[in-house]
Amino acid sequence: MIAARLNGPADFAGWRREARRLALAGIQPEAVAWLTSEDNAGLFAMESIPPADAGDAALTVPRRFIELAENVICHRDAGRFVLLHRLLLRLRDEPRLLDNAADADIARAEAMARSVRRDLHKMTAFVRFRAVSGADEDGPFIAWFEPEHFILERAARFFTGRFAGMIWSIMTPQGSLHWDGSTLQFGPAASKADTPDGDAMEAYWLTYYVNIFNPARLKPKAMKSEMPVKYWRNLPEAELIAPLIASAARRAEDMVMRAPTQPPERHVRQLRHRPEAQADESAITSWQDAAAAAQGCRRCALHCNATQTVFGEGPLDAPVVFVGEQPGDQEDLAGRPFVGPAGQVFDRAIQEAGLDRARAYVTNAVKHFKFQLRGKRRIHEKPNVGEIKACRFWLDLELQFVKPRLVVALGASALRSLIGHAGSLASARDRELALEDGTPLLATVHPSFLLRLPDEEARSREYARFVADLERAGASYRNQVSSAGI
Ligand code: URA
Repeated sequence: MIAARLNGPADFAGWRREARRLALAGIQPEAVAWLTSEDNAGLFAMESIPPADAGDAALTVPRRFIELAENVICHRDAGRFVLLHRLLLRLRDEPRLLDNAADADIARAEAMARSVRRDLHKMTAFVRFRAVSGADEDGPFIAWFEPEHFILERAARFFTGRFAGMIWSIMTPQGSLHWDGSTLQFGPAASKADTPDGDAMEAYWLTYYVNIFNPARLKPKAMKSEMPVKYWRNLPEAELIAPLIASAARRAEDMVMRAPTQPPERHVRQLRHRPEAQADESAITSWQDAAAAAQGCRRCALHCNATQTVFGEGPLDAPVVFVGEQPGDQEDLAGRPFVGPAGQVFDRAIQEAGLDRARAYVTNAVKHFKFQLRGKRRIHEKPNVGEIKACRFWLDLELQFVKPRLVVALGASALRSLIGHAGSLASARDRELALEDGTPLLATVHPSFLLRLPDEEARSREYARFVADLERAGASYRNQVSSAGI
């Protein structure tokens, strides 16, 4: 047996390195024992991977395979390394193998990747932080979660992005994640007893849950299939659901009268700290300059009432930029795009489409929340043409610094901004478009369109179409760079 050594159960970089050496040395999958750091290699006599005849010869595979393998490697199935090794070897003789969904190896790998993506979605949706005693509003917080697969490192990208400003730990039976506001550390496996029970954060979360619980959308069956019993156990809100269901009809009526509140005091304070003067926009030479200057933007009147400018976020080498309309109530408070209800639909859909939000740049056509105050409610208002045009300045800068391979317009306002005039979203959705500089542009609906659909059937049909559009987006930018070194 030949030993291939990995640094952990989902060490993708390690698998890539070892698989490359094995493939170049002509070693077959059955001859390899894959050892993760927990395995006791001393029990067996093992040989090392012999040096390759071909020296450092290039070995390329479709980029799609790398993305598939990144998910499969996280699956708990012990046969995952051998399966990927076999696929890698087969791809050399069968370049179109990945298109053959009926192939048993491909079908198995795709099913494993789907299961991992689902587990990732569950973790990002169902982790609940509790405050550690003595915590303030920034933490420390702690959460317990039991993933099905080895997804901890993958999930870490999501949590460090989403909860960047807090101090938190996520404990799991596989290991723990610790974030101090700037650095992430991986720690040992934990047990549920390591997470404190019921506290102020939990009380806060329960109040929040009661307030966002939407009786008009109540679908107990779907909730149970989406959130298996295993996850319910760890959700503080689980025990609230039965009484909330019981009072759903009355609450549906009350809800019409209820509302999001005005920004809390913390955000009002932030409002006071906004730059007094408009920044010198001609001095912008980097994305960082642009993000900082946008905080003082006075290009239209929307800055007067919004809490803050919500600039785009994501890696500056992202292959794809998603453009929404404008920040909503929660984005205005958090200072980050797509973190409210529309953001949750967006997160779920891109994950189901096999894309990774952490690798995308997400922004809006308009950077300030436009609303009408009705009583205490801040009611979203569509930006007008002048506001969209004024804000195009910032979107142009973002596109100039990120240089994506593809831009996706989410909804009509984003499309209007990107093509520079009004256009029918329905017909744009089915066409291949491009920005003035030639960057391919895809158009799809805005996630909040899905939230507004009144009936369940239309919602699931349109949601599936939205996911299909996002899958098309993924395929489109992947095809532009079709192969990668393994
Ligand atoms: N809707 C948007 O268009 N953008 C956001 O960031 C949130 C909701």
